[in-house]
Amino acid sequence: MEELYKKLPQHTYSWLQGRATLYNCPKTGTTWQKALSFAILTREKFDHAAGSPLLTTLPHDCVRFLENLHLAKIKENPSDLPLLGTHLPYSSLPKSVIASNCKIVYIYRNIKDVIVSYYHFFREIVNLSEENAPFEEAFDDFCRGISIFGPYWDHILEYWKASQERPDRFLFLKYEDLKKDASSNVKRLAEFIECPFSVEEEKAGVLENIIKMCSFDSLSNLELNKSGMYQADEAFVLERRLFFRKAKDGDWENYFTDAMKEKIDKLIDEKMSGTGLLL
Ligand code: A3P
Repeated sequence: MEELYKKLPQHTYSWLQGRATLYNCPKTGTTWQKALSFAILTREKFDHAAGSPLLTTLPHDCVRFLENLHLAKIKENPSDLPLLGTHLPYSSLPKSVIASNCKIVYIYRNIKDVIVSYYHFFREIVNLSEENAPFEEAFDDFCRGISIFGPYWDHILEYWKASQERPDRFLFLKYEDLKKDASSNVKRLAEFIECPFSVEEEKAGVLENIIKMCSFDSLSNLELNKSGMYQADEAFVLERRLFFRKAKDGDWENYFTDAMKEKIDKLIDEKMSGTGLLL
């Protein structure tokens, strides 16, 4: 990991000073979180009804990943927004990022739905049918902590513990809450990243328009997200549609056996009790 950090543009850490970064585990709502944050911060610059880059560019190209900034094929943050995303665990962040005082927005999601989303995403990337990629195996791997950025609970717990020391620096958003009450939670997000909505804006429907433009229905139905490709890495290109599957809460019920449910509930209990974060 240290080798990777050496390749990051030198100005990255100073650029992060006092700015916002978006953190999370894959499949917990990264794409949505990026779209909303980008729309909040650019609402004066772009007419969201027609001219937003979110209508012509995948959210991951509007807000870059910290871990990808060194890649030659990936240009630097296109709009020079005070915003970056990352899936890196807290303990793997460069010390200078931790010291940078950037604000941290952490999105998390019901772990059972994350497992199902993760399963389909990686199954499709390697082009395997459901028959050839048994869900049970994916489930067991996930429970053993075998996932791309490490065990889900370690990821969330590390950020949560850090937030106990510096609560002013962290905002935890729950995917399901964002769905249930988009207005309040998008307002919280906007306030936290220091770009709050004014009363006039709310009256004029700016908040509602942003929520609508960034909704699953809106983004997943854009032609560019249905058929285009995303350059995730120097050597890794994937279909944009893979970022938009169902976005349904409780899809796990179609996959989990009673034994799986019992196992994961026990794990969640063991790992997360006392945090107040319900997975
Ligand atoms: P499902 O696989 O359950 O459908 P990530 O963006 O972190 O990769 O997470 C992907 C999950 O978020 C997928 O969940 C995807 O469908 C869902 N998603 C993508 N865009 C969304 C949006 N605008 N609103 C709500 N959910 C969204």
